[in-house]
Formats: sequence, C-alpha cells, structure tokens
Amino acid sequence: MSRKSIFILGLILVFVTFNVYLFYSAPEDVNNTRAEEVEYTYSSQELFTILAGVNDKTRTLYTKSIVGSGKKAGLKFDENWELDNVDAGPLPALFLRETSLLIEKSPVELGLYLGSDFPISKANKFEGLQSKKFQQLKKDESPQFFFDKASKRNVAMFPDFASANACVQCHNNHKQSPKIDWELMDVMGATTWSISADSLTTDQLMEYISVYKNSALDVYSSYLDKVKGFKESEIPSIGDRWPSEGYFLPNVMTFTDSVDNLISKHLLNDIFKTRLP
Ligand code: HEC
Repeated sequence: MSRKSIFILGLILVFVTFNVYLFYSAPEDVNNTRAEEVEYTYSSQELFTILAGVNDKTRTLYTKSIVGSGKKAGLKFDENWELDNVDAGPLPALFLRETSLLIEKSPVELGLYLGSDFPISKANKFEGLQSKKFQQLKKDESPQFFFDKASKRNVAMFPDFASANACVQCHNNHKQSPKIDWELMDVMGATTWSISADSLTTDQLMEYISVYKNSALDVYSSYLDKVKGFKESEIPSIGDRWPSEGYFLPNVMTFTDSVDNLISKHLLNDIFKTRLP
C-alpha cells in the first residue's frame, strides 16, 4: 500500500471514529434514527478552521526546518528562486503562493491568498470588502468569517503574525516594502480562504484537505527538482536527513511523513476540540 493510501486511510479512520462518537454522544431523538441515515455536514467555517490549522503546520515545517535551518547550513532562499541562474528555494510566502496556484488547477474550488495592506508585492494588496475586514481583523487579532456578495463566496481570513525576527527584518529592509517599521507580533497580513459551498460532507471535507496537502507537497517536490539542477552551488544530498544536520534536504517521502504526522495530530487534537462541547 502506498504512503498516500495509508494517509487517506488514516484520515478516513479519524473521521469514522469522529462521526461514530458524535452519533453515540448525540441526544436521544437523534439516536433513534438508523446509523446509515446520519450524514454529518461541515460548515464552510469548520472547513476553513481545519484548513488553516493544516496550512499552519505545513508552513511552519517549511519555514523553520527547511528555510530556517537551511540558511544556517548554507542553502539560499530567494524571491527569484525560479530563475535559471538563481540557485535558491522559494521564500515561505512564495511557497504558499505556488501551493495556491496548484490548488486552483485542481478539481476543487478553493481560493487561498496571502494578502496585506502594506504588501511587498502589489498583487498581494487587499481590496474592497477584504480590505475592510482586514482592518477589523487587525483590531481583534482574530479570524474573520463572512460572505462576499461580489464573488458569491464564503471567505475566511486568519491573521499572519510577525512571529520571528526574520519576518520583520526582511520586510523592513526590502526595497519594495511600503512599510519599514514592522515590529515583532504585528499582524503583517492574512491568510485568506474562499469557497462557494455553504456546507460539505465528510468526503468533500477530506478531498479539500488532500488537495491542499498534495499541492503543498508538489511545491516541495518542484523545489527539490530545482535543487538538483543547481548551476553553481553544491547540490545538497537529498535523503532522510534534514538541514538541521548539515547540508541536506529531506526527500519528498521524508518531508511527506513529517507533514502527515503533523497534520494527523492536528486533525485529532483540533477537530475534536472545535466540534465537541
Ligand atoms: C527573506 C525575506 C522574507 C522573510 C524572512 C519573510 N518574508 Fe514575507 N515576503 C517576502 C517577500 C519578498 C514577499 C513578496 C512575495 C511575493 O512576491 O508575493 C513576502 C510576502 C509576504 C506577505 C504577503 C504580503 C506582501 O508583503 O506581499 C505576508 C503577509 C508576509 N510575507 C508575511 C511574512 C511573515 C509573517 C514572515 C515570518 C514568519 C515573513 N513574511 C518572512 C519576504 C520575506
């Protein structure tokens, strides 16, 4: 059985257990219905919360264990990483953008966008209703969920905090940055998700999670392809070791195992927390 099927099986198990729990812990009158008739649906808000957690784990893994440790080991990360003559990998914000481009090409209809009111890249500037909601988000420092009539989509915005000095330093020193006084823990932007559906079945929810995960893994895989074609820099050895151990990069399988591990733990801990009283 492939690792992918093991992951999907794992997810199915989590959801089956979860639904069985909901069924047996449900009030009397619900228990009177036969088990097969109970179809649990998830609100768009629940989907967004789950995806935000999964994205958070994946992005943190990439930011800390690949970019953070990688830089110390001598790897480079650059906004122009895709150019032929640049021997570098994608910055975290670009990793997310590539992921969202792949999600767009998938069969599920899911928007993912990292925006800001003072963006380095003009394409990342919030407009219209999202811009208004972002101001509210900065005040509350908590997620915003709303329906956007213009796009007919349910939207969720999650704060993106300057959680490390590297965020502040890089943005403040960037030539194109319209703001040069970012401070640690400022809300620098918002990860913004959108879908047109109001509610989802368990199968659909799982499909969204898989599409997100596979897109992120494909981006990691294209980074490794880039590394293998480095022109001037030494090519790091790609296998089961991580940059924290030296000039290494985990192969797709090793990286996938870590992502799966983090995601499953998140699904187990956080979904149960959001759903159960
Ligand atoms: C080494 C430089 C660097 C570091 C470190 C960095 N960023 Fe960025 N960030 C960029 C660049 C360059 C862009 C623009 C990418 C693009 O073209 O879309 C960007 C984009 C963003 C955006 C989208 C809005 C915009 O400015 O275009 C947000 C939000 C953001 N970064 C937040 C963060 C946070 C939070 C951290 C730390 C956890 C961080 N960044 C770390 C360079 C950096």
